[in-house]
Amino acid sequence: MKRAASAPRALALASGALALVACAGAVAPSPAAREDVASVTAAPLGLVVPADNSQAVENARCEGCHEDVAAEWRGSLHQRSWTDPVFLAAYSIEPLPFCRGCHAPAADPQKPPDPGARAMGVGCVTCHADLAGEPVLAGPMPHRSRSAPGFDTAAACDGCHEFDFPRRKGARMQATLTEHRASQHADTPCQTCHMKPVARARGRSGKGHRFEVREDPALLRSAVMAAAAPRSARSIVVTLRAAAVGHAFPTGDLFRRIEIRASSVENTSLRAPAVALQRVFRLEGSESGSASRIEVRDERVPASGAPRDAVLVFPDSIEGQTIRWEVVYQRMGPTLAASFGVDLEKDEIVVAAGTLRIPSPPASP
Ligand code: HEC
Ligand code: HEC
Ligand code: HEC
Ligand code: HEC
Ligand code: HEC
Repeated sequence: MKRAASAPRALALASGALALVACAGAVAPSPAAREDVASVTAAPLGLVVPADNSQAVENARCEGCHEDVAAEWRGSLHQRSWTDPVFLAAYSIEPLPFCRGCHAPAADPQKPPDPGARAMGVGCVTCHADLAGEPVLAGPMPHRSRSAPGFDTAAACDGCHEFDFPRRKGARMQATLTEHRASQHADTPCQTCHMKPVARARGRSGKGHRFEVREDPALLRSAVMAAAAPRSARSIVVTLRAAAVGHAFPTGDLFRRIEIRASSVENTSLRAPAVALQRVFRLEGSESGSASRIEVRDERVPASGAPRDAVLVFPDSIEGQTIRWEVVYQRMGPTLAASFGVDLEKDEIVVAAGTLRIPSPPASP
């Protein structure tokens, strides 16, 4: 059986060559030109890739026998990592070969991804390839199986869920594994929270392969504890702490954010401007892609369990009023949502909410 190239290791090789790749600075998505641009910006990456679609073919073989796992994986964001419309919108702005290493790992990085690689995304053969250079699956089918050392730990997710910006070594574009190490749940593997036990055929137990997050609002809500308190005659403070989450909240893609809102129940037009907590970047030069972003601040809820305060200031006194507050998870802010065609109102998820009674001012003597 042919061994699939290991995406995490391949990416380590890729970063050096990427320094030579010019960043596409165009702002307007151009879906039609996407593949052309992609082939122009492609640079030699030194990756070992199959000469044909052998990975997609092999993947289909896994699916044929492991129908239950395949049914979970099909439709997951791993399987849709190339076809997800939000990814495609972002890729059309910044079509770097770099992106393909994770979003179409079965593709030849020097060419636009072939149909097999696009449809497969992050497949069985991507993850069940090895972390250390050894074949994970060996022997005739049905096979002897052997997991890579550390496959039941965060190491199985490294390389893809932790990586640098293209062209800037050490500046993390995503840092979920580092956050995990700093987390109060550092001893809990990613799999415990993201691959919950599921029933398989013949009464056996398996590990869920859906990796759902937005489709699982209960999981999102379990990430954070929130409490509100009066702060002044015109403001309240909402204090957030990481709960059953093994990394910062939110983690992952650099544009993830939470928004905290508050308004008076008695007078709904009395509301505080929303406070957003997110990673804050400044743009370097006139470019707009991820490659030109420098992180200046990380306002997210820390993985350590330390508190993060959001102060909401009202335009007028709120004394004697009942204030309703809520914490909302968003994939991205309003500007990006508009350019990516995402309806933020439908997309966002409320993860915590409550009401707070603000005492009336003491009666004057
Ligand atoms: C011809 C059928 C067949 C094909 C093809 C196949 N498998 Fe399996 N696989 C099995 C059988 C049978 C087992 C034994 C466990 C079971 O009963 O499910 C197994 C076991 C496994 C296990 C270990 C399960 C455990 O509980 O330890 C993994 C992981 C696995 N397969 C992954 C894959 C991957 C990835 C592919 C594609 C590269 C693949 N399999 C292709 C039939 C197949
Ligand atoms: C080969 C690279 C790769 C590996 C290995 C990998 N992932 Fe992913 N993962 C991705 C990509 C790419 C996406 C996002 C696809 C998209 O949104 O376009 C993703 C998405 C996810 C999501 C869904 C996020 C959301 O927004 O809903 C979760 C959860 C996740 N991965 C967890 C894991 C865990 C846990 C592991 C290790 C067991 C792992 N992944 C291994 C590449 C990988
Ligand atoms: C994002 C990475 C990822 C992808 C994609 C993936 N797996 Fe897995 N799979 C894992 C990890 C990690 C484990 C082991 C979890 C553990 O032991 O804690 C696992 C466990 C398994 C097992 C044993 C547990 C069970 O549920 O029976 C089988 C069988 C399996 N995978 C088959 C597949 C097949 C078939 C596909 C494609 C349809 C696939 N996997 C896709 C990461 C992945
Ligand atoms: C203690 C449970 C727990 C552990 C351990 C854990 N996670 Fe999560 N994860 C969550 C919860 C809850 C969410 C939803 C809240 C959020 O987005 O932070 C989440 C969300 C995510 C997301 C989606 C981010 C987004 O907004 O798109 C990704 C990706 C992810 N986790 C990957 C990982 C990886 C990789 C690891 C291991 C290094 C890991 N998680 C460890 C509980 C956990
Ligand atoms: C080293 C692996 C890796 C590389 C390289 C990479 N990504 Fe990702 N990308 C991920 C992972 C993992 C996620 C899922 C994290 C999450 O959901 O928060 C993701 C998520 C995304 C999302 C969010 C999708 C959604 O549904 O909200 C977009 C957009 C995206 N990537 C675009 C890109 C673009 C464009 C490039 C190239 C400039 C790129 N990525 C390069 C791993 C990678």
